[in-house]
Amino acid sequence: MIKILSYKKKISGDNFSSTIDRLVDLHFKNLPSSLYTYLGNSALRIFYTLLLKSSFTTIYFAYIKSELSGFIILAPYDFSIIKSFLTQIYRININDLFFIIISILKKIFRYNLLRYDLFIKLITQKKENHHENTMKIVSIIVDSSNRGKGIGRSLIHSAINYCQLHSYKSISANTTSLQPDAVNFYKSQKNFILKDSYKDNIRDLYNYKFVCFIS
Ligand SMILES: CC(C)(COP(=O)(O)OP(=O)(O)OC[C@H]1O[C@@H](n2cnc3c(N)ncnc32)[C@H](O)[C@@H]1OP(=O)(O)O)[C@@H](O)C(=O)NCCC(=O)NCCS
Repeated sequence: MIKILSYKKKISGDNFSSTIDRLVDLHFKNLPSSLYTYLGNSALRIFYTLLLKSSFTTIYFAYIKSELSGFIILAPYDFSIIKSFLTQIYRININDLFFIIISILKKIFRYNLLRYDLFIKLITQKKENHHENTMKIVSIIVDSSNRGKGIGRSLIHSAINYCQLHSYKSISANTTSLQPDAVNFYKSQKNFILKDSYKDNIRDLYNYKFVCFIS
């Protein structure tokens, strides 16, 4: 039995720290090692904390027997900037310093949601072709032990319903040849079409861009 819950509605009852632990765990277990996992634990915690605390993002969690088994994060912004920002920080090895700065900021602003939004605004960008009425899938992950049970499809349906309700015109999703499951998953979703694919010579992989037009 799959239960899909909107995160924002659940925010008050959640144990925030253990939720972040679970997201980081799902991330490390289910994404190929060359993809973002090099960010390291503390940088990933910051990444997910920002996403969960921001009012810009929309998140659905999938539970199987009350265990968090998958999630989808949607945002009207391009979050690749956060990732590269965190990567740079990690490369110069001051991610722990960054973590301390965030902790101090959290204390100063007493978890004021507006401050997270401000921070997210500062380090993300709207790409020119990323229109206001397009929602982007920042991340969709289903735990490997629960794949093939329709969780991914249910999460996508929740996203489409949300976008219909809030008058978004389309949903975009990027994935790569490092994630063949995700490529096949989007190809199998009748609402999604492959918009573009191109080779990334630096990372020696293919990028795929899918789009779902909301009717
Ligand atoms: C992609 C992912 C979310 C799919 O989740 P899932 O719960 O296994 O998907 P579902 O069971 O809902 O499958 C839905 C459809 O996709 C198809 N599908 C899913 N995985 C597939 C695969 N590896 N190969 C072929 N088809 C696949 C299913 O056959 C199903 O088709 P149907 O509707 O015709 O029956 C999951 O494989 C995953 O988490 N992958 C790793 C993380 C990742 O790469 N995320 C994307 C980038 S952020």
